[in-house]
Amino acid sequence: MDRYSEIDQRLKNHKEKMDLPLNHLKYLSKADNRLSCFSIKGCGLFYDFSRQRVDSEIIKNLTDLAVQSGLREKFSSMRRGGKLNRTEKRAALHTTMRSNKPLLADDGVLSEIKSVKDEIKVFSEDFRSGKIKGTTGKPIDSIVVVGIGGSLLGTKFVFSALSGLVEKVIDTRFLGGVDIDNLSNILDETDPEKTLWIIISKSFTTVETLSNFNRIDHFLKEKGLLSSDHIVTVSNNPKAEENTLKSFPMLESVGGRYSVTSVVGGLPLSIGLGFDIYSEFLKGASSMDDHAENANEYENLPLVSALISHWNNQYLDYNTVGVIPYSAKLKEIIPHLMQLSMESNGKSVDTEGNKLTARSGTILFGDQGTDAQHSFFQLAHQGQPFPVEFIGVVKPYYEEEHLYRGVTTHQELWANMISQAKALAEGKESDDSYRNFDGNRPSSIILIDSVTPLNIGKLLSFFEAKTVFEAFLLNTNPFDQFGVELGKTNANSIRASIADRNEGKNAEKSDDITEFYLDTLFSGKI
Ligand code: F6P
Repeated sequence: MDRYSEIDQRLKNHKEKMDLPLNHLKYLSKADNRLSCFSIKGCGLFYDFSRQRVDSEIIKNLTDLAVQSGLREKFSSMRRGGKLNRTEKRAALHTTMRSNKPLLADDGVLSEIKSVKDEIKVFSEDFRSGKIKGTTGKPIDSIVVVGIGGSLLGTKFVFSALSGLVEKVIDTRFLGGVDIDNLSNILDETDPEKTLWIIISKSFTTVETLSNFNRIDHFLKEKGLLSSDHIVTVSNNPKAEENTLKSFPMLESVGGRYSVTSVVGGLPLSIGLGFDIYSEFLKGASSMDDHAENANEYENLPLVSALISHWNNQYLDYNTVGVIPYSAKLKEIIPHLMQLSMESNGKSVDTEGNKLTARSGTILFGDQGTDAQHSFFQLAHQGQPFPVEFIGVVKPYYEEEHLYRGVTTHQELWANMISQAKALAEGKESDDSYRNFDGNRPSSIILIDSVTPLNIGKLLSFFEAKTVFEAFLLNTNPFDQFGVELGKTNANSIRASIADRNEGKNAEKSDDITEFYLDTLFSGKI
């Protein structure tokens, strides 16, 4: 038996032990020093895992597993440009977007990053000072960010978290999926003469984004406006440079869902909020990267959080996690984390291409507290159990003096967060079976002091590091996403059938179910 499987066997034994009634969280959470032993403060964040179903021996074995699996070495190699993305034969350079750390083989990457940052600075400052004019000579004062998945979600999160902080916020909208109702709303709400469209697509082949791009281009022409005045692009594909005001290059080695700190987030955030805010956000992300690489296995927030996630998924058999930020400012983190976590870790093979025997990936969903309490918390408390990650913010944006039932709104929010975690863990016995709560439902609480660019950078990098650590534990590649291809390929033939029907041609027949939906679409009724 190798050491890895020895640890694995020990952890399996611990799972049996944790299922004993004496290890119910209602007892564990009240043990002496439970919080101080099972929480970490570091890099400006607090991570409380005292209500996870672990004890010191489990943590010891999990950290052994971390050492054995070389998590920090792999993280370090990633930061230095090691080609960890084996299937696509490239490095994963997202952390290089926010540091000047030398790379193993630079190939001019650092200077390219610097020059793109300089371009972002100049362009965003010109924009914010009214120097960028549209075709009709009016200064452009609003932007629409067009992209999908990693080319949109992270930026949307950071923008929505930080926009309240900034005095001069540029009117910024986000256009994701292909949907005429969404696009038309934006077209109705914006002044075309004063709007800049930022089309972001690493590949510049993503149909949703190209379809939106095409419609916008057409719309501008109809209005007598020039794309070369009203469109900028961010891409790794040189085709994106054609007929635009400016095109910003994106590195091939930065994956979409990890690209928020690159030009993908950098350009819209610098225009919308200011280059200083973007720079501060990068500092935060970089400091968490340093922490993830250098803090030891017991004090390393993203690493321990990845271990807990691995323990919950692989040993305690929870296949889902709920993420509940108790802050409206953090609500948009949920779609970002859904992509980051599930696109990175929902895999079927290991890094050598062997079929995985273990389950990979955790189903991640969530909503902001306290809204979540009134939607899916019934199941969380009495239905099938799943771990929850609460995210709390100590100080809100707005100050308030008004009290209702003796507390401020923010204190009320915290009362709810604290009580939910406690209720999930401890439960409540009742002779009335309808009102019985089994408890023993694990949760963590992650705290930041306040929503600032620095802290949002830290939080973003915390989750990125956690995600890749989880993949390193399973020996899977968190940087590729072949799973999204099949649906896209199927759409190609279905689109071709629709196009044929549009032209009155005899479209090639597909299966009966597909034909039913095509007939329904063309008949205009069910
Ligand atoms: O959903 C697949 C995906 O490739 C994501 O990984 C990516 O973030 C998104 O599509 C957008 O891709 P692109 O930036 O190439 O348009």
